[in-house]
Amino acid sequence: MRSRFLTCLFPITALLLAAATTSQAAGISQGAMLSNSCAACHGTDGKSPGAIPSIHGKSSQFISRTLTEFRSGKRPSTVMGRHTKGYSDEEIRLIAEYFATLK
Ligand code: HEC
Repeated sequence: MRSRFLTCLFPITALLLAAATTSQAAGISQGAMLSNSCAACHGTDGKSPGAIPSIHGKSSQFISRTLTEFRSGKRPSTVMGRHTKGYSDEEIRLIAEYFATLK
């Protein structure tokens, strides 16, 4: 029974390792992946084509501060408060650092 369980576990572990290696090999950082969800509203690389504010060229301090304030409700919002509730402090830091690299 135990050995069957381990046989089952092996392909899953191998798959997860392969997935992790693939995204690193392609040079996609965790910050870039987390920031993909922002493009739907803020445009590619944060360059908004419409009414939603552009976040391209903003500093990492600005992005991490506003995201943290949206999350706590300190900064009023329509959607950002709900959107940021899903991110940890570490993820907000990675997102902010990623946007700051887009010049
Ligand atoms: C569903 C659409 C949507 C998504 C997805 C979204 N935003 Fe926003 N964002 C908005 C809107 C709308 C505002 C204006 C504030 C509000 O009403 O929530 C805003 C405001 C902001 C602001 C403040 C801009 C300023 O100049 O005041 C920042 C920074 C920001 N978003 C960052 C992000 C980041 C980073 C992500 C991805 C993690 C993201 N947003 C995802 C819609 C979105």
